[in-house]
Amino acid sequence: MSNKNPIGFFDSGVGGISIWKEVHQLLPNENTIYLADSKNAPYGQRTKEDIIRLSCKNVDYLLERDCKLIVVACNTATTNAIKELRAKYSVPIIGIEPAIKPAANQTKTETIGILATKGTLNSELFHKTVANYKHINIIEQVGYGLVQLIENGDLESDEIKELLKTYLKPMVEANIDYLVLGCTHYPFLLPQIKEIIPAHIKIIDSGEAVARQTKNVLKQNNLLNTTEAESTHLFYTNYKSQVLKNISGFSANVFETDF
Ligand code: DGL
Repeated sequence: MSNKNPIGFFDSGVGGISIWKEVHQLLPNENTIYLADSKNAPYGQRTKEDIIRLSCKNVDYLLERDCKLIVVACNTATTNAIKELRAKYSVPIIGIEPAIKPAANQTKTETIGILATKGTLNSELFHKTVANYKHINIIEQVGYGLVQLIENGDLESDEIKELLKTYLKPMVEANIDYLVLGCTHYPFLLPQIKEIIPAHIKIIDSGEAVARQTKNVLKQNNLLNTTEAESTHLFYTNYKSQVLKNISGFSANVFETDF
């Protein structure tokens, strides 16, 4: 394996681009391949078995393209399938989980909110994390409908704003001081979320932590790309490509394909 080989990313759709951007910012020399399994989105409503099957399909596709490391840019796939992926594949695999720990450690009101998919909130891994913070009031909310609307490029509609109000207002009333975005699609709704919740509530996600972890693991495995040549980036989707083009900002490198 050469350090010039790409980092592979996958998500149920366009959401993982929020993670891709963090990794690219920290590691601009790295070549990357991003898979948006939008045909099968949302993963959040699927069974664990289904999520494992789809995650393996995505990893197989990325390994066929010689990826040196995989970033599971999806909380739902990580919390349901990371154990199985690590058992099956020998390549390093980085996962993303909701940032409960920093929120729970820093809250002053001892009340935090988490917005995530049903698949993430119901997972064993998430339950285990939450069990460490029994003294904190953690308000869990499934973001029903949000992923589908984001997948359709519908970020500004009244529908999405109304859904966000319904999900976030009870958290504000319960006096949260941290809001954890536990789905990689949701950072694309930051402006809309900020219109709804008061400014003192801190909004956090795990993007930066994943980027740092990716760098550490590449270093440990002697796989950091240290060449000065300009990096290349390929984005594949098995659904319509327009939203991925808009969100990634790499229009010319986005391809529709079957996987
Ligand atoms: N973006 C994903 C996540 O982080 C999955 C959304 C979905 O497909 O339900 O959870």
